[in-house]
Order: sequence, then structure tokens, then C-alpha cells
Amino acid sequence: MKRIFSGIQPSGGVTLGNYLGAIRNWAKLQQEDYHCLYCMVDLHAITVFQDPKALPQQTREVTAALLAAGIDPKTSIVFNQSAVAEHAQLAWIFNCVARVGWMNRMTQFKEKAGKHRENASLGLYAYPALMAADILIYKATHVPVGDDQKQHLELTRDVAQKFNSDYGVDYFPLTEPLIYGAATRVMSLRDGSKKMSKSDPSDMSRINLIDDADTIAGKIRKAKTDPEPVPVAPPASDEERAARPEAYNLMGIYAALTDKSLAEVADEFGGAPFSAFKGALTDVAVAVMGPITAEMRRLMDHPDEIDAILRRGAEDAREIAAPILREVYDIVGLLRP
Ligand code: TRP
Repeated sequence: MKRIFSGIQPSGGVTLGNYLGAIRNWAKLQQEDYHCLYCMVDLHAITVFQDPKALPQQTREVTAALLAAGIDPKTSIVFNQSAVAEHAQLAWIFNCVARVGWMNRMTQFKEKAGKHRENASLGLYAYPALMAADILIYKATHVPVGDDQKQHLELTRDVAQKFNSDYGVDYFPLTEPLIYGAATRVMSLRDGSKKMSKSDPSDMSRINLIDDADTIAGKIRKAKTDPEPVPVAPPASDEERAARPEAYNLMGIYAALTDKSLAEVADEFGGAPFSAFKGALTDVAVAVMGPITAEMRRLMDHPDEIDAILRRGAEDAREIAAPILREVYDIVGLLRP
């Protein structure tokens, strides 16, 4: 059986972008011939400061979103990273396998550290080694990821390869990325050139999974567009897309929510004023998200239910991870007296 691992950071609420770009696909993968582990990566979240009073609730909220979106804790393992110590233990070994030069090439570190590189946490720098440990502590064969994580997955393969060759073993698999069908990259509602992000200072830039119908309607109504009507065809080039990023973003969201192609959306709405299209978009967003939001709220009112699922998940995860870590210790020559 193929084993899937994926992770999501509990660094804030969950957005429509997280849902359409990742969580929805994770739920679908359960129906295929995979055994899935889905992890709230709280150790990754604290690579940038998280309010200790808010972090537990954020972890529960992301868990609630996964469950509400149809991830079934009876068939998939749902847990938080820090509850399975083997992640951090293997990450240390990988810190000693990965090279400083590899880390220096990571574009996400450069973006997140920005101009204040010297002031970034050491954890942010080592982030990809922990991610490699997340995946390889289960010898996962497949990892569903968005475009922005492809480089980290390549580094995971490099770590596996170097570990195998340094120690003369054929131990870790070379994990394959799973790129979803129509890649859905949901952009900010205020600036179509930026990814929709839970860390954007403006709440109007995103739709949160927990938003009620009125809030969603208000955000879509105020979403940035240009004065032209809805495009009559999908963009023929990156330049065309870049010329009207907000227009194509809203069309892309509609397409993803209705499982249609961009061309079908253009056929249906091309030439219409954006005010009309926004009304239709609000209706489908509320219809699709409504039941998920309702179940999320129910779960958030029952934190004990969420915690029980996470506890069971951590136990199941540890059952796979612990024997693998023991084997790794033996391979590396760490004495287990
Ligand atoms: N880096 C991923 C992100 O920010 C989260 C993540 C951590 C992850 N560990 C992982 C994703 C392992 C896939 C597999 O989106």
C-alpha cells in the first residue's frame, strides 16, 4: 500500500485557499489506494513566533477544518506534529545529513526571512530538514503538495539519498510529489498577485473557512476587480493573466468551487459585469462552504472531541514512527543501551 503524508501549519485560521488548494484533495485521496497521515505541523508554525495562548486553539481549528472537509479519522491518521517526538528526533539527524549550501538555496526561506536574514530563527532555516523528517519518519511514498513546496520535497529526496549513500543502506524511499489535477492557487481578494494567506494583515484579503454567509458576501462584494467585464476566455498567456490577476482569480475560485474549467466559467459569464458575477460567486461559495463551516463550528464547541481524535492519531502515528527511528539509530550507530 502506498503511504501518503501531508502537513499544514496551524499558524492562524484556515482559508478558502487552504481548502481548495490542499484539504479538499487530501479528503479525496482517502478513497484511493492510499493510507494517509495528515498532520498539524505546530513545530513548523513556531519557526515564526506564535502566541502561546492562541496556538492550541489554532491547532484545533485546523483539525476541525480537516474533519469537516471529510477527512475520516477512522481511515486516516490525524494528529499534531509535536505529539510525536520522533519527528524532532529524526529532524536532528537530518540536520547532520543536509548541507548548509542546500538550505541557502531554499526560496521560501529567502522570502520569509526577507531583509532580516540574520534575525530569522535557526528553526526557520532548518525548516526543510524537519519537513523531510515528517515525511521519512513514516517512509511515506507520496506527498500531496502545492507548487510552493516542490523545492522542499526535492530536498527531502536529497536527504534520503545522502542518508542512504553515507551509511551504505537502501533505507529511505525517494518520495514522489503528488500534484493535483487542476492546480488551484487561490490569490488574495485585495491583490491578485499575492497568495491568499492566513497571515495577511487584512482579513478582507481572504475567506476563512469559519466565516459566515454575510461575511463571505461582504468580502466578495468588496473584492478588488478592474473596470472591464468578465473575460470571455481563459488567459492565453501568463502576461494576459498578469494583466487582470483579480478577474482570473475570482473566476478560478468559481471554477474550483463548481468543479468546472475556467473556459466553462468564461462561457457562462464572459461579458457580464463583475457585479453580477460576484453575486453568483457568493451563492456557490456559501452553498459549498456552508455545511463545512457548520460542522467546524460544532467541533470547535466540542474541543474534547477534537483532542480525543488527535490523541488517538498521535498514538497510531507513533506506532509507525517508533520502530523506524530505532532502525535509524542503529544505522547511524547511536547506542540504545
Ligand atoms: N511546509 C508545508 C507548508 O507550509 C507544511 C509541511 C510541513 C508539509 N511538513 C510537511 C507538507 C510534510 C507536506 C509534507 O505548506
